[in-house]
Amino acid sequence: MRTAVPDDLAAFVQALGVQWLRRPVDAAPALAALLAEPALGEDGKARVVAAVAPIVADECARHGYRSQDLVVLHPGTPGLEEALARFDQAHTHGDDEVRYILDGEGLFGFFDAAGRECVTRVGPGDYLRIPAGVEHRFTLTPARRIKALRLFSDTAGWVARYTGRAAAPLETLA
Ligand SMILES: [Fe+2]
Repeated sequence: MRTAVPDDLAAFVQALGVQWLRRPVDAAPALAALLAEPALGEDGKARVVAAVAPIVADECARHGYRSQDLVVLHPGTPGLEEALARFDQAHTHGDDEVRYILDGEGLFGFFDAAGRECVTRVGPGDYLRIPAGVEHRFTLTPARRIKALRLFSDTAGWVARYTGRAAAPLETLA
């Protein structure tokens, strides 16, 4: 369900200033094998980051992102459901939230000034830049699996500021 905006998803998020690009993950066999693993150790994460960073190097330069990491969530991630319950609450950040999805899938909800929500499903190759101040939320699909490169200009800016907006769980809207 595309809440309140069934006709033009891209226009809705674009009007909010959200940048949504397609950057296909052209995985060499070694990278593909890493992405196929549900969980990765620190070495595996570092190898994935090194392999995919060039794909978004232009965005880092354009927006001043100075650090990056790889978030890996899977059904065995400790505390996953508790974390998802926090991500699913509408919030903003003081800095851009940037996600380049490499594996798995997730659901983003974006709110406009009128409180209408647009729910989008993201998967490998989706690059999203949510500007500071744009109200949004996130959850995983029932597969409970994602790998996403996160880009930061200042990691302190990523603290969630909850808006207190009441909304049904994202999974029920997708
Ligand atoms: Fe966020």
